[in-house]
Amino acid sequence: MPLTATPITPRFGAEISGIDVSKPISDADFAQIKDAMNQWGVCVIRGTGFDNMSHVTFSRHFGHLETAPAVKNRPRRHPDTPEIFDASNLTPAGEILVDENMVLHKKGDRLWHTDSSFMDMRSAYSLLLAYEVPKEGGLTYFADMRSAYEDLPDDVRQKIATLKADHSLWYSRLLAGFPITEEEIDGRPKARQPMIMPQEATGRTAIYIGSHAMDVADMPRDQGRALIKYLIEFATQPQYTFGVSYQPGDLVIWDNLTTMHRGGDFDIFNERRDMRRTTVREGDAPEHADDPFTAYFSASSPAN
Ligand SMILES: [Fe+2]
Repeated sequence: MPLTATPITPRFGAEISGIDVSKPISDADFAQIKDAMNQWGVCVIRGTGFDNMSHVTFSRHFGHLETAPAVKNRPRRHPDTPEIFDASNLTPAGEILVDENMVLHKKGDRLWHTDSSFMDMRSAYSLLLAYEVPKEGGLTYFADMRSAYEDLPDDVRQKIATLKADHSLWYSRLLAGFPITEEEIDGRPKARQPMIMPQEATGRTAIYIGSHAMDVADMPRDQGRALIKYLIEFATQPQYTFGVSYQPGDLVIWDNLTTMHRGGDFDIFNERRDMRRTTVREGDAPEHADDPFTAYFSASSPAN
C-alpha cells in the first residue's frame, strides 16, 4: 500500500495513512514509514487499534526498545509489557494521581525537552499512544530542531558545532518546581551530549538541546545557560512548532534526535489522561536485560 503523508506544517510533521498498522506490516511498508519519519520528524497515525502488545510489536520495527524504569514501591501499571512507559496521570490502580511530588515530577514534561537526553544511551524514537484523553487540553507540542538549526545565524551555528551540554533529568524537574537543589543535582548522574545532531539519512543537522540541558561544557554556568535558553527560545518560535490533539487509538511517533516536545496543560486532578509510550534506543544495540534506566533512577531519585 502506498503511504500518504498530509503535512501538518510546510516543513515539519505529517499525518500518515494508507498502511494498515493493525496487521503485521511488510519491510517495504515499514520502509515507507521510516522515510516519512526522516522527512517529517513527527508522524501521526490516527485510529491504530493498538493495545499494549501490538504497540510494542509495531515499535520493534524501529529498533531496540527501552525497558521502562521500575519505580520502588510502585507496581507497574503494565507488568506484562515492561517496554511500555506509563505516561498517564493515573495510579497503578487506575485512579487519578494526587501525590504532590509525583505531580511536580511529571510537570517537568511540560517543558520543552527531548526524551532521555540525560542518558548516555540516547533515545531515537518515541511512540506515544492515546488511551484516554481529557475533554480539553492535554495536547503534545513539537519543535522542529532541523529547520531551527538551518535558520540560526551563521555565527551561532559555528559556535555550537563543537560544543557539548550536560543533561540531567533533575535539572528539568528543578525548573518545574520539584524540591531539589543544584548541589544535589551536581552529585547525580548526567550525560554529556553534542549540541548538534547531524542526521545521516537526510544530510540535515538538528540542534540537540532541551530542558534537561543544565550547563554547556567548558563554559561559565551563566553563559552556558544563556546559550541554552537562547537556543530553546529560538527553536520554539511559532514557525517551528505545532500541537497534536488525540482521540483514543491515535499514535504519534517522533524523532528525539531532531525534535523537541512538551506536554500541554489539562485539568490533571479531575481529568483522566492515559498515554503510553514505547521508546527506541539510538543505534543498533540489541535488547538486553540490564537496561540502565532502572539503575539511573534508583541511583538518583528521591521520588522513587
Ligand atoms: Fe517526553
